Amino acid sequence: MAQTTVMDKLASLAKRRGFVFQSSEIYGGLGSVWDYGPLGVELKKNLKERWWRSMVHEREDIEGLDAAILMHARVWEASGHVAGFTDPLVDCKQCKNRFRADDERLKGTPGTPDARCPVCGNKGTLTAPRMFNLMFKTFMGPVEDDAALIYLRPETAQGIYVNYLNVLQSSRQKVPFGIAQIGKAFRNEITPGNFIFRTREFEQAEMQFFVKPGEDARWFETWKEQRMAWHRALGITPEKLQFHQHTPEELAHYAKTAFDIQYQFPFGWQEFEGIHNRTDFDLKRHQEYSGKKMEYVDTATNDRFVPYIIETSMGIDRLLLVVLVDAYREETVEGEQRVVLRIHPSLAPIKAGIFPLVNKDGMPEMARRLYDDLHKRMTVFFDDGGSIGRRYRRQDEAGTPFGVTVDGQSLSDGTVTVRDRDTLVQVRVAAEQLATYLRQHLEP
Ligand code: GAP
Repeated sequence: MAQTTVMDKLASLAKRRGFVFQSSEIYGGLGSVWDYGPLGVELKKNLKERWWRSMVHEREDIEGLDAAILMHARVWEASGHVAGFTDPLVDCKQCKNRFRADDERLKGTPGTPDARCPVCGNKGTLTAPRMFNLMFKTFMGPVEDDAALIYLRPETAQGIYVNYLNVLQSSRQKVPFGIAQIGKAFRNEITPGNFIFRTREFEQAEMQFFVKPGEDARWFETWKEQRMAWHRALGITPEKLQFHQHTPEELAHYAKTAFDIQYQFPFGWQEFEGIHNRTDFDLKRHQEYSGKKMEYVDTATNDRFVPYIIETSMGIDRLLLVVLVDAYREETVEGEQRVVLRIHPSLAPIKAGIFPLVNKDGMPEMARRLYDDLHKRMTVFFDDGGSIGRRYRRQDEAGTPFGVTVDGQSLSDGTVTVRDRDTLVQVRVAAEQLATYLRQHLEP
């Protein structure tokens, strides 16, 4: 399958089945902003819950936080984002298209008379590169002047750093410990694209682990391995996952060491999570800009230090794209083509489809009773429309792992058939055992 075709087909399936819609579509859409439909929001919620459970609930040394999107403007001066969160930008004065200065399609040196625009083909219309800050700006209060200028956060991390002392004191944690947060972030990307891969509004799941200086390298290794193991446990094809170490040129202004976890997308190996050793850069800068001491005092040894931070930073939307791309298959089964999303059952938005084989002889009533019982415990979908084959295929496309059918035998012996999305094997299960059976097969 050609790469564009797979992404196009996936975007079309995502819209058709209610995973992802273009934002403000009826007005022609808003560039690189996306909305999650009924199935997308369930999948996203399952991913977030899985991350939260592994970070916050299953560990004693990590606390949760939900900091506001809007923060004091000084935060972004201290963090280095006002001065340094920039991309070099080139405009075409003729067709008004905008490019990153390192765009391979640019012909010649922008700003010189022979440089030719890759879109309209005109010569000498490209401006010289200028730095463009990726933070969205807005104003707080009724007056729109510089004193009221604030930013939409470009990363959730800073909300954690400015609350580090609050969390430390209220939770009575001791270094080493971590703070985890899931929330929206915003970047006015110059070249967004590839469906939900690079967007202007997205969600991050970030965890900042505070350690004693000198212990940072060991914790970095630990987190790097744990995060890769977590992705493998989601059922993502292991051969399509790899680490990429940042070269000195790639390192962000705050990082001493950084590794990306990459997935082999149809458009190449790309990052979807970063593990960074941010040293004491952020806390020291906040100490300097706020005047508030960020030191940790080890009560056992009386040591005082500003902790180093190991960060794990994952884009939820990108992870969702990884899950969809990895799950997407076109297959021929029983002589027919089907499209199936082999999403891990524990993550699937709908756990089971409930179908009466035919709409008579008491089958719809029994199927309905099963549905009424199950839907209080898990996400299930009742469907009595069209042939049973078509109903199975609709659920295959939605990534539903089980199809439960009430047939003639069900009425006489109280059993139903359960069809497995991936193996297509059908087993008979007693209706009263169905919830237990499904739950056992839905575990991570
Ligand atoms: N706090 C560190 C930080 O934000 P980053 O490498 O800039 O690091 C971390 O971003 C993750 O956030 C990326 O691996 C990616 O998954 C996600 N991300 C960043 N920019 C994004 C965008 N424009 N659209 C979607 N996800 C994005």
